[in-house]
Amino acid sequence: MSADIAKINAAAAALDFVEDGMLLGLGTGSTAAHFVRLLGERVKKGLNVRGVPTSEETDRLAREVGVPLVPVERVGALDLAVDGADEVDGQFRLIKGGGAALLREKIIAGAAKHFVVIADESKMVETLGAFPLPVEVTPFGFTLTAARIYDALKLTGCKGAEASLRESAPNTPVVTDGGNYIIDCRCLAIPHPEALADALKRITGVVDHGLFLGMARTVIIGKAKGAEVLER
Ligand code: A5P
Repeated sequence: MSADIAKINAAAAALDFVEDGMLLGLGTGSTAAHFVRLLGERVKKGLNVRGVPTSEETDRLAREVGVPLVPVERVGALDLAVDGADEVDGQFRLIKGGGAALLREKIIAGAAKHFVVIADESKMVETLGAFPLPVEVTPFGFTLTAARIYDALKLTGCKGAEASLRESAPNTPVVTDGGNYIIDCRCLAIPHPEALADALKRITGVVDHGLFLGMARTVIIGKAKGAEVLER
Protein backbone atom coordinates (compact mmCIF):
# COMPACT_ATOMS: atom_id res chain seq x y z
CA MET A 1 0.00 0.00 0.00
CA SER A 2 1.30 3.45 -0.79
CA ALA A 3 1.67 5.46 2.41
CA ASP A 4 0.88 8.51 0.33
CA ILE A 5 -2.62 7.27 -0.52
CA ALA A 6 -3.24 6.57 3.17
CA LYS A 7 -2.02 10.07 4.07
CA ILE A 8 -4.32 11.60 1.44
CA ASN A 9 -7.25 9.57 2.79
CA ALA A 10 -6.56 10.77 6.34
CA ALA A 11 -6.28 14.37 5.14
CA ALA A 12 -9.51 14.10 3.14
CA ALA A 13 -11.39 12.73 6.17
CA ALA A 14 -10.20 15.71 8.24
CA LEU A 15 -12.06 18.02 5.86
CA ASP A 16 -15.29 16.74 7.45
CA PHE A 17 -14.36 18.66 10.60
CA VAL A 18 -13.96 21.95 8.75
CA GLU A 19 -16.88 24.38 8.81
CA ASP A 20 -17.42 27.63 7.00
CA GLY A 21 -15.98 30.60 8.86
CA MET A 22 -13.45 28.58 10.87
CA LEU A 23 -10.00 29.72 11.87
CA LEU A 24 -7.71 26.74 11.29
CA GLY A 25 -4.28 25.70 12.51
CA LEU A 26 -2.38 24.28 9.56
CA GLY A 27 0.17 21.60 10.44
CA THR A 28 3.53 20.73 8.93
CA GLY A 29 4.81 17.64 7.12
CA SER A 30 3.72 15.55 4.17
CA THR A 31 0.32 14.50 5.61
CA ALA A 32 -0.56 18.02 6.71
CA ALA A 33 0.51 19.27 3.27
CA HIS A 34 -2.14 17.00 1.69
CA PHE A 35 -4.70 18.59 3.99
CA VAL A 36 -3.63 22.11 3.01
CA ARG A 37 -3.84 21.26 -0.70
CA LEU A 38 -7.32 19.73 -0.31
CA LEU A 39 -8.38 22.75 1.73
CA GLY A 40 -7.13 25.00 -1.06
CA GLU A 41 -9.42 23.16 -3.49
CA ARG A 42 -12.39 23.74 -1.17
CA VAL A 43 -11.50 27.42 -0.81
CA LYS A 44 -11.50 27.75 -4.61
CA LYS A 45 -15.04 26.33 -4.57
CA GLY A 46 -16.16 28.98 -2.07
CA LEU A 47 -15.31 27.70 1.42
CA ASN A 48 -14.62 30.65 3.71
CA VAL A 49 -11.84 29.76 6.17
CA ARG A 50 -8.59 31.32 7.32
CA GLY A 51 -5.46 29.52 8.44
CA VAL A 52 -2.52 29.97 10.76
CA PRO A 53 0.50 27.98 9.51
CA THR A 54 2.84 26.10 11.86
CA SER A 55 5.96 26.60 9.73
CA GLU A 56 7.41 28.72 6.95
CA GLU A 57 7.02 25.67 4.70
CA THR A 58 3.28 25.46 5.37
CA ASP A 59 2.98 29.23 5.03
CA ARG A 60 4.41 28.99 1.49
CA LEU A 61 2.19 26.05 0.54
CA ALA A 62 -0.98 27.67 1.89
CA ARG A 63 -0.30 30.84 -0.11
CA GLU A 64 0.43 28.76 -3.22
CA VAL A 65 -2.89 26.87 -3.02
CA GLY A 66 -4.92 29.93 -2.05
CA VAL A 67 -5.74 29.37 1.62
CA PRO A 68 -6.09 32.84 3.24
CA LEU A 69 -3.75 33.28 6.20
CA VAL A 70 -3.90 35.30 9.41
CA PRO A 71 -0.76 36.40 11.29
CA VAL A 72 -0.51 34.41 14.50
CA GLU A 73 -0.24 37.66 16.50
CA ARG A 74 -3.81 38.56 15.50
CA VAL A 75 -5.30 35.31 16.74
CA GLY A 76 -6.93 34.50 20.08
CA ALA A 77 -8.19 30.94 19.89
CA LEU A 78 -8.41 28.68 16.86
CA ASP A 79 -11.43 26.55 16.03
CA LEU A 80 -9.55 23.53 14.73
CA ALA A 81 -5.94 22.46 14.20
CA VAL A 82 -5.07 19.62 11.83
CA ASP A 83 -1.58 18.16 11.85
CA GLY A 84 0.37 14.97 11.23
CA ALA A 85 2.42 12.95 13.74
CA ASP A 86 5.48 10.75 13.81
CA GLU A 87 3.99 8.33 16.34
CA VAL A 88 0.57 7.92 17.97
CA ASP A 89 -0.16 5.54 20.83
CA GLY A 90 -3.46 4.09 22.06
CA GLN A 91 -3.96 7.00 24.48
CA PHE A 92 -3.57 9.55 21.67
CA ARG A 93 -0.15 10.54 22.97
CA LEU A 94 2.08 11.72 20.14
CA ILE A 95 5.65 12.20 19.08
CA LYS A 96 5.92 15.13 16.70
CA GLY A 97 8.71 17.26 15.33
CA GLY A 98 10.23 15.03 12.68
CA GLY A 99 10.02 18.08 10.45
CA ALA A 100 11.56 20.33 13.15
CA ALA A 101 8.34 22.36 13.52
CA LEU A 102 7.30 21.08 16.94
CA LEU A 103 7.32 24.42 18.78
CA ARG A 104 4.94 26.23 16.45
CA GLU A 105 2.91 23.04 16.07
CA LYS A 106 2.48 22.78 19.84
CA ILE A 107 1.59 26.46 20.26
CA ILE A 108 -1.08 26.20 17.56
CA ALA A 109 -2.47 22.82 18.64
CA GLY A 110 -2.64 24.08 22.23
CA ALA A 111 -4.60 27.16 21.16
CA ALA A 112 -7.15 25.15 19.17
CA LYS A 113 -10.52 24.11 20.55
CA HIS A 114 -10.17 20.83 18.66
CA PHE A 115 -6.90 19.18 17.63
CA VAL A 116 -7.21 16.54 14.92
CA VAL A 117 -4.24 14.30 14.08
CA ILE A 118 -3.99 12.79 10.62
CA ALA A 119 -1.67 9.84 10.04
CA ASP A 120 -1.22 6.68 8.05
CA GLU A 121 -1.36 3.33 9.87
CA SER A 122 2.43 3.07 10.16
CA LYS A 123 2.39 5.84 12.76
CA MET A 124 0.28 3.85 15.25
CA VAL A 125 2.44 2.29 17.98
CA GLU A 126 2.01 0.36 21.22
CA THR A 127 4.73 2.33 22.99
CA LEU A 128 6.17 5.69 21.98
CA GLY A 129 9.88 6.01 21.35
CA ALA A 130 10.99 4.01 18.33
CA PHE A 131 10.90 7.32 16.44
CA PRO A 132 13.64 9.58 17.87
CA LEU A 133 12.03 12.19 20.11
CA PRO A 134 12.92 15.72 18.91
CA VAL A 135 13.73 18.31 21.55
CA GLU A 136 14.12 21.96 20.52
CA VAL A 137 16.95 23.74 22.36
CA THR A 138 18.60 27.13 22.31
CA PRO A 139 21.85 27.17 20.30
CA PHE A 140 23.71 28.69 23.26
CA GLY A 141 25.02 25.89 25.46
CA PHE A 142 23.39 23.16 23.42
CA THR A 143 26.00 20.54 24.37
CA LEU A 144 25.32 21.23 28.06
CA THR A 145 21.58 21.08 27.46
CA ALA A 146 22.00 17.82 25.51
CA ALA A 147 23.83 16.30 28.49
CA ARG A 148 20.95 17.23 30.78
CA ILE A 149 18.46 15.82 28.28
CA TYR A 150 20.44 12.58 28.31
CA ASP A 151 20.20 12.51 32.12
CA ALA A 152 16.42 13.07 31.92
CA LEU A 153 16.08 10.16 29.48
CA LYS A 154 18.03 7.83 31.78
CA LEU A 155 16.19 8.98 34.91
CA THR A 156 12.78 8.35 33.37
CA GLY A 157 13.66 4.82 32.27
CA CYS A 158 14.54 5.23 28.59
CA LYS A 159 16.92 2.36 27.94
CA GLY A 160 19.82 2.65 25.48
CA ALA A 161 19.25 6.41 25.26
CA GLU A 162 21.30 8.66 22.99
CA ALA A 163 20.83 12.39 22.44
CA SER A 164 22.37 13.88 19.32
CA LEU A 165 22.25 17.16 17.46
CA ARG A 166 20.23 17.04 14.24
CA GLU A 167 22.39 18.07 11.30
CA SER A 168 21.53 18.66 7.65
CA ALA A 169 25.18 17.93 6.73
CA PRO A 170 28.27 17.21 8.84
CA ASN A 171 28.83 20.13 11.25
CA THR A 172 25.74 21.93 9.96
CA PRO A 173 22.98 21.95 12.59
CA VAL A 174 19.37 22.03 11.44
CA VAL A 175 17.98 25.43 12.49
CA THR A 176 14.26 25.62 13.26
CA ASP A 177 11.95 28.43 12.12
CA GLY A 178 12.45 29.88 15.61
CA GLY A 179 16.25 29.90 15.22
CA ASN A 180 16.86 26.95 17.56
CA TYR A 181 18.55 23.54 17.28
CA ILE A 182 17.00 20.08 17.53
CA ILE A 183 18.36 17.32 19.75
CA ASP A 184 17.04 13.92 18.62
CA CYS A 185 16.62 11.42 21.46
CA ARG A 186 16.99 7.81 20.45
CA CYS A 187 15.97 5.08 22.85
CA LEU A 188 14.30 1.71 22.66
CA ALA A 189 11.06 3.03 24.13
CA ILE A 190 9.69 5.84 26.28
CA PRO A 191 8.09 3.94 29.18
CA HIS A 192 6.86 7.04 31.03
CA PRO A 193 6.05 9.84 28.54
CA GLU A 194 4.50 12.18 31.17
CA ALA A 195 7.53 11.89 33.47
CA LEU A 196 9.91 12.51 30.57
CA ALA A 197 7.85 15.48 29.34
CA ASP A 198 7.98 17.05 32.83
CA ALA A 199 11.71 16.41 33.19
CA LEU A 200 12.49 17.92 29.78
CA LYS A 201 10.42 21.05 30.48
CA ARG A 202 12.43 21.67 33.66
CA ILE A 203 15.75 21.90 31.77
CA THR A 204 16.90 25.44 31.08
CA GLY A 205 17.85 25.56 27.42
CA VAL A 206 15.01 23.27 26.34
CA VAL A 207 12.49 25.35 24.41
CA ASP A 208 10.01 22.49 24.01
CA HIS A 209 9.85 18.83 23.10
CA GLY A 210 7.96 16.63 20.67
CA LEU A 211 5.79 14.81 23.21
CA PHE A 212 2.21 16.03 22.66
CA LEU A 213 0.31 14.59 25.63
CA GLY A 214 -3.39 15.07 26.30
CA MET A 215 -3.75 17.35 23.28
CA ALA A 216 -5.26 15.30 20.45
CA ARG A 217 -9.01 14.76 20.64
CA THR A 218 -9.40 13.04 17.28
CA VAL A 219 -7.02 10.73 15.46
CA ILE A 220 -7.74 9.92 11.82
CA ILE A 221 -5.91 6.86 10.53
CA GLY A 222 -5.64 6.84 6.78
CA LYS A 223 -5.81 3.47 5.04
CA ALA A 224 -5.51 2.17 1.49
CA LYS A 225 -9.25 2.71 1.21
CA GLY A 226 -10.78 5.40 3.37
CA ALA A 227 -9.89 6.32 6.91
CA GLU A 228 -10.81 5.39 10.46
CA VAL A 229 -11.81 8.23 12.79
CA LEU A 230 -11.04 7.67 16.46
CA GLU A 231 -12.32 9.98 19.21
CA ARG A 232 -10.93 10.31 22.71
C1 A5P B 1 6.68 18.22 11.71
O1 A5P B 1 7.55 18.84 12.60
C2 A5P B 1 6.11 16.98 12.30
O2 A5P B 1 5.57 17.11 13.57
C3 A5P B 1 5.15 16.29 11.36
O3 A5P B 1 3.83 16.56 11.66
C4 A5P B 1 5.43 14.85 11.48
O4 A5P B 1 6.82 14.70 11.28
C5 A5P B 1 4.65 14.02 10.48
O5 A5P B 1 5.15 14.22 9.20
P1 A5P B 1 4.64 13.40 7.96
O6 A5P B 1 3.20 13.73 7.81
O7 A5P B 1 5.48 13.91 6.82
O8 A5P B 1 4.90 11.96 8.24
